[in-house]
Amino acid sequence: MLPARSLAHAKINLFLHITARRDNGYHELDSLAVFAQTADLLTLEAPRPAEHGMSLAIDGPFGAGLEAGSDNLVLRAASALRLAASLSDTLPAWQMRLTKNLPVASGIGGGSADAAAALRLLAAAWQCEDVDLAPIAASLGADVPVCIAQKSRRMQGIGEILAAAPRLPRCAMVLVNPGVAVPTPAVFRAWKESGAAFRPSAKLPAQWHDVAALAESLRSTSNDLQAPAIALFPVIGEVLSHLERSEECHFARMSGSGATCFGLYADLDAACRAAESLRAQGWWADAGWVQNTEDRR
Ligand code: C5P
Repeated sequence: MLPARSLAHAKINLFLHITARRDNGYHELDSLAVFAQTADLLTLEAPRPAEHGMSLAIDGPFGAGLEAGSDNLVLRAASALRLAASLSDTLPAWQMRLTKNLPVASGIGGGSADAAAALRLLAAAWQCEDVDLAPIAASLGADVPVCIAQKSRRMQGIGEILAAAPRLPRCAMVLVNPGVAVPTPAVFRAWKESGAAFRPSAKLPAQWHDVAALAESLRSTSNDLQAPAIALFPVIGEVLSHLERSEECHFARMSGSGATCFGLYADLDAACRAAESLRAQGWWADAGWVQNTEDRR
């Protein structure tokens, strides 16, 4: 059965409203998260004696930007699962490999998706699939719970309250990142210092029939972190201008706290052409279908 592997798809916030602030400093959000085809890959390569502990090797185009130490979310997820599930210390540890295809600290939940992939793979390997992964995921980060199922979801609370998303049309997406690592806390702080008001939750229909209708709806929403992120990193504004000018782009916006921006397209050929022209600017860009658009559960 093993080695086992799991794709860890990029999470994109189609909109992100900041609706309140909790006493612990975290912000309550209303967001629609979808998953891009672009993904990291996590592999359980070989079991190791328990006393040797878990090991993580990292490769891939963005692997150099990441430490494989015990702070890595993949290893933290492994420890949290072992602890939460009261698993015996004699269960085998694993030699794991993370192929990092997604830019790091870039607003698309790469680290969260990797942690969720680790929870899924290890729950299967340790045969503890009956353990509720949701609270373990929430303890690792606000975006980890939505990455467990990797399906479109409405996110509320600080990200841990997940509900069905409206049915999305089949649509292609370009991701583009200008190569600046954005610290999420700094962007939330800049939002707060800008004096911006809390925004109400978005009103959404039950479904969208095509990309044009989705784009029309999204224009009445916002990513509240986009303006403060552009103020900190003006290149994000340049990325958005290029995306908006690309032929057949229905809608462009920044995801999460940035710097990755997305463009929505009705067909994959148009998205691939846009990605090509964005790469010509020296930026990382990738095109693919939005995942699981038929699945509402
Ligand atoms: O939970 P995560 O590690 O992804 O969050 C990183 C930082 O982003 C937090 O320390 C906090 O400053 C900010 N954050 C927030 N409200 C959220 C999510 C993140 O203020 N809902």
